[in-house]
Amino acid sequence: MAEKREKLYEGKAKIVYATDEPDVIVHYFKDSATAFDGKKKGEITGKGSVNAQVSAVLFKLLEEAGIKTHFRSLQGANELVTDRLEMVPLEVIGRNIAAGSLAKRLGYEEGQALKKAIVEFYYKDDVLGDPVVNEDHIAELAVATPDEVSRLREIALKVNEILSRFFDLLGLSLVDFKLEFGRKAGELVLADEISPDTCRLWDKATGERLDKDRFRRDLGRVEDAYQEILARVKGAAV
Ligand code: TMP
Ligand code: ASP
Repeated sequence: MAEKREKLYEGKAKIVYATDEPDVIVHYFKDSATAFDGKKKGEITGKGSVNAQVSAVLFKLLEEAGIKTHFRSLQGANELVTDRLEMVPLEVIGRNIAAGSLAKRLGYEEGQALKKAIVEFYYKDDVLGDPVVNEDHIAELAVATPDEVSRLREIALKVNEILSRFFDLLGLSLVDFKLEFGRKAGELVLADEISPDTCRLWDKATGERLDKDRFRRDLGRVEDAYQEILARVKGAAV
């Protein structure tokens, strides 16, 4: 049990607390949801516990495959106990099927399969609205070294392989996903969460969207979609 002490940070979907151990923190997952840079706000009942539990299963799966993550334990239904890292202010996005901003950028129909997986980097900066950046921009901003950028790409592709296979067995297509990383003792470590908030997951049989797009696009049955993902993921996690 890691007791929550000082509140270190409160974001749109999570609150991060210090614990009595300096290199251990607790992430409390909230039911509140935002989209479009916070312009759309709402509550998704049960989302916090779904996202914490799904993240716990996926981080364990990735650890078993040799990927370093910040995950230590699931505490109750809504909290992850993790390592405290020095965060890299980048969102690393992996994509298998065109959707969302990529479909817009390339003029593709949503649902069009990509020839091979695409990795993108976004600079996390609320004022700038998280712009897309390339290796040169990242070097200019000095938020990661060129070696780290190659490594981020390599890890994102490995995560994509593992998660795509896992979700496929649950009857889900992993359309795209967002990862965040930190550093611990100079090494890149996968952090944040992996959940229906940060992945697009489409039912393979029906094409139904079972992720945050139900909230972003007012598709209805938002809570049901989150519960459906949790049920499938828990069913797989023996
Ligand atoms: P996008 O199509 O809006 O760029 O999103 C790609 C994927 O990244 C999608 O699965 C949602 C996820 N994502 C986040 O988790 N947080 C964000 O702030 C954004 C923009 C996307
Ligand atoms: N989480 C981001 C926001 O609050 C974007 C999103 O997930 O759509 O704007």
